[in-house]
Amino acid sequence: MGASGTLPYPRKEVSSMPTTPANRDVPDGEALLTVSGMTKTYGGVTAVDDVGFSLPAGSVLGLVGPNGAGKTTLVDCIVGTQTATAGTIAVEGRILRSGPTVRARAGLARTFQHPQLALDLSPVENIVPGLVGSRIGSYAASVRAMVRGLAGTPHDVLAQAARLAAEYGVPEVESTGDLGLGAQRLVEIARAMAARPRVLLLDEPFAGSDPDGIAAISHAIGQVRDSGRSVVLVDHNVDLIAELADAVVLLAEGRVAFAGDPDECMRSPEMQAVYFGTTPSTKEAR
Ligand SMILES: Nc1ncnc2c1ncn2[C@@H]1O[C@H](COP(=O)(O)OP(=O)(O)OP(=O)(O)O)[C@@H](O)[C@H]1O
Ligand SMILES: [Mg+2]
Repeated sequence: MGASGTLPYPRKEVSSMPTTPANRDVPDGEALLTVSGMTKTYGGVTAVDDVGFSLPAGSVLGLVGPNGAGKTTLVDCIVGTQTATAGTIAVEGRILRSGPTVRARAGLARTFQHPQLALDLSPVENIVPGLVGSRIGSYAASVRAMVRGLAGTPHDVLAQAARLAAEYGVPEVESTGDLGLGAQRLVEIARAMAARPRVLLLDEPFAGSDPDGIAAISHAIGQVRDSGRSVVLVDHNVDLIAELADAVVLLAEGRVAFAGDPDECMRSPEMQAVYFGTTPSTKEAR
């Protein structure tokens, strides 16, 4: 399985992941995150179509699928930055219908497919909004709290951010722009974890990373999982997903094409069909 065979945090032996029927509106009591009947349409395009799954504590769910399959839209609908056309999410059994601020307070944090960082600021400074937002809630309130000193002294906040940077292996540099893409993604992970989420959603965290960056991000994912939180890991790198994830959801044209064990998913006709446009049976027919 390529270079990923040396990763420090191989996935746990979990044979299957409970998935919920797509239209079920009742959250699984044991799940940290339950997604039910999630649907998002843009005009005539159905980007996410009736997607449902549940995520136990301390687990990694790989979310795979080709370009345009709906992965980012699904993440956006879960964290609330996009309003779903239909469907619900529940965090620790509590259905959340409010926007992203409430969902962040309830325990959801995410990173972005294209990192959203102030490159002229230091990595530690980029982590600060996660810390302040975790206590206060919204960005506007965070700024107010910082200015009025409600979030602690700037020294306290920076010291906490520096501890998080060290915890997640962020290199010490003056400007975040001096970091490679992999290390920038570590900054985003540390910022997201500053909010002490229950579930961390990572949108293509390995994209553009060199092998050192991939190893560091894999290590960080293991840290998050081993602390009892759960991770939704979006990526195209199916080898890494197979290595790190306890279960996989394969999306194709917005729908769940396969859900379950990562190795079974990689071998499945659905995977073949989605990524290679063929199935074992059609190959044999040639
Ligand atoms: N704001 C939008 N308006 C209209 N269509 C959109 C919008 N955002 C996404 N789409 C469409 O929804 C579908 C899913 O897009 P999405 O970005 O979620 O896919 P993805 O699986 O994340 O792809 P990639 O692997 O390229 O990141 C695509 O057809 C895309 O063109
Ligand atoms: Mg995407």
